[in-house]
Amino acid sequence: EKGNYRHFMLKEIHEQPIVVAQTLKSYLRPLEEQVALPDMEFDLSGVTRVSIVACGTSSYVGMVGKYWIEQFARVPVEVDVASEYRYRDPVLEEGQLALFISQSGETADTLAAMRHCKEAGITTAGIINVPTSTMAREADLLMPTHAGPEIGVASTKAFTCQLAVMAAFATNLARAKGRLPADEEREIVRHLQEVPECMNAALEREDVIEKVAAFVAKARDVLYLGRGPDYPMALEGALKLKEISYIHAEGYASGEMKHGPIALIDETVPLIVLAPSGPLFEKTVSNMQEAQARGAQVVLISDDTGIDEAGNDVIEYVRMPKVHPLIAPLVYAIPVQLLAYHVAVAKGTDVDQPRNLAKSVTVE
Ligand code: M6R
Repeated sequence: EKGNYRHFMLKEIHEQPIVVAQTLKSYLRPLEEQVALPDMEFDLSGVTRVSIVACGTSSYVGMVGKYWIEQFARVPVEVDVASEYRYRDPVLEEGQLALFISQSGETADTLAAMRHCKEAGITTAGIINVPTSTMAREADLLMPTHAGPEIGVASTKAFTCQLAVMAAFATNLARAKGRLPADEEREIVRHLQEVPECMNAALEREDVIEKVAAFVAKARDVLYLGRGPDYPMALEGALKLKEISYIHAEGYASGEMKHGPIALIDETVPLIVLAPSGPLFEKTVSNMQEAQARGAQVVLISDDTGIDEAGNDVIEYVRMPKVHPLIAPLVYAIPVQLLAYHVAVAKGTDVDQPRNLAKSVTVE
């Protein structure tokens, strides 16, 4: 039921602090200050390579996971969309763990890729939301998300719950590989516990986002920029906007802008910049300024420090709570989802049932 919400998507966006807390509850051991995974029949310390395979929004969780796993566990990660992976004759070798991410657990290409790996004797793991799904049954290690049923075709709460599980997985792998001192793990647990509260703070920015949406709704094209783990969030922002508002949007790594897309920029193309303050902030700001010099209308999504430093010439900023870089993708998901939602509402599209899209893509 939608309750007091106008659409399932809006309800699901607002449910995120609760469902992410629920998901984290099953992966965090607050007393031991540790992160835990479900029991498994293989030894994580033997994993020498991780292949992440998924489609659409779930594949962006994989891209964020690559940053986290390589940073914390120092294990190499490849990320593929399932339709490519299953047909590209990937190298499969001992020590490899194939990790599949899916809300539905039924996506045809992802399932086929999982079966392909199983047949080759590769250990499979799944971050899956629907507990009764085929992938949930077939994965060697099931890491469930506890987002509950997601009705809106545009994935929102399943996405952030997948990110929460991915953070737990990366942390566990790092410990298993002897790369995570106890004090660092304690810090990670603490930051993950802050996520629901930070998401609530982000949800409070809905009024500003509605203002931004009124402006974005007039655009024909929109660009999203982000760096590091916020780059996949730029891709997610663009996908959400395309799916439900039918406005053409692209996500780019901030540093890639000058390698082509800058040619598109003029005062009619809103530029949404996802930039929590941190070590790479300056670099993103200089990319943003290059675009502003060409007339770009920038919406800056950042925290107090970032907005103080770079919020002057933007047409609007969205103030996020100051968060640790690890949890930034979970928190910055909220404004990109809300923006897509409010643009779609402004355009009068069918938010929960966008044209041409199915909730579960069970044919390739
Ligand atoms: O059920 P899955 O997570 O496997 O679905 C994958 C994609 O079809 C899905 O994320 C799609 O991109 C959504 N409509 C995104 O909002």
